[in-house]
Amino acid sequence: MVISFNSIKGGVGKSTLATTMAGWLASQGKDVLLVDGDDQETSSDFTAWREQTLGNTGYTLVNMTGANLRKQVEAMKPKYDHIIIDTGGRDTTSQRAALSVADVSMIPFVPRSFDLWTITKVTDLIDEIQSIRAEPLIAYTFLSRADIRSADNRDVAEALSQISQLTYLPYPISNRKAISNAAGLGLTPFEGESIDTKATKEIEDLFNRVLNGNHVTATA
Ligand SMILES: Nc1ncnc2c1ncn2[C@@H]1O[C@H](COP(=O)(O)OP(=O)(O)OP(=O)(O)O)[C@@H](O)[C@H]1O
Ligand SMILES: [Mg+2]
Repeated sequence: MVISFNSIKGGVGKSTLATTMAGWLASQGKDVLLVDGDDQETSSDFTAWREQTLGNTGYTLVNMTGANLRKQVEAMKPKYDHIIIDTGGRDTTSQRAALSVADVSMIPFVPRSFDLWTITKVTDLIDEIQSIRAEPLIAYTFLSRADIRSADNRDVAEALSQISQLTYLPYPISNRKAISNAAGLGLTPFEGESIDTKATKEIEDLFNRVLNGNHVTATA
């Protein structure tokens, strides 16, 4: 499966979740390619730290940006069980290339900074991408970096679930120190000496939902 992490807004947790998913799938014995499609290279930095910490990253990392990303991912698809694409938080050629080649797009929203402008931009972009794709893209939204208890979560979840082009997944990822601490070492929250099982459960629930389907694919 080709899974791309996308957003129009920066800092929503794409790189954190893309690298976590790559490491998590690799730990299950899957052949994984992690595509760093962002010229900020957060996934590449993570992978370099990971190599230092663990010696072996468990997955293959490549950097690809621009229109080339689509062609390359298409060519590499048969060689891997899963390809995970991390993109930058802007509407760029790389972001569009990732959306055009992915089976699934994961679009995180941070409830505290949710705004209608972003959601309109996202739906416009997804509509445009769907119109040029042969097979429809499955576009998922979910809460990321959510406060553990906040009225914002419910309001934003409600707003996201109303959008017909996007399928809202009720599996929020909370803002947890364990998640950012692990990333700083090149580890996923599933690795390291002390594991925050609340964090790992949230992440696993979201990832399993995405991998196992049950798709109620929204049609535009
Ligand atoms: N669930 C979380 N809990 C705590 N910290 C998090 C969580 N998710 C991400 N972060 C932290 O938030 C910051 C932004 O995350 P990240 O780099 O993954 O976002 P991004 O969407 O990839 O950003 P960009 O658009 O700039 O590429 C990082 O410092 C990361 O460690
Ligand atoms: Mg990033």
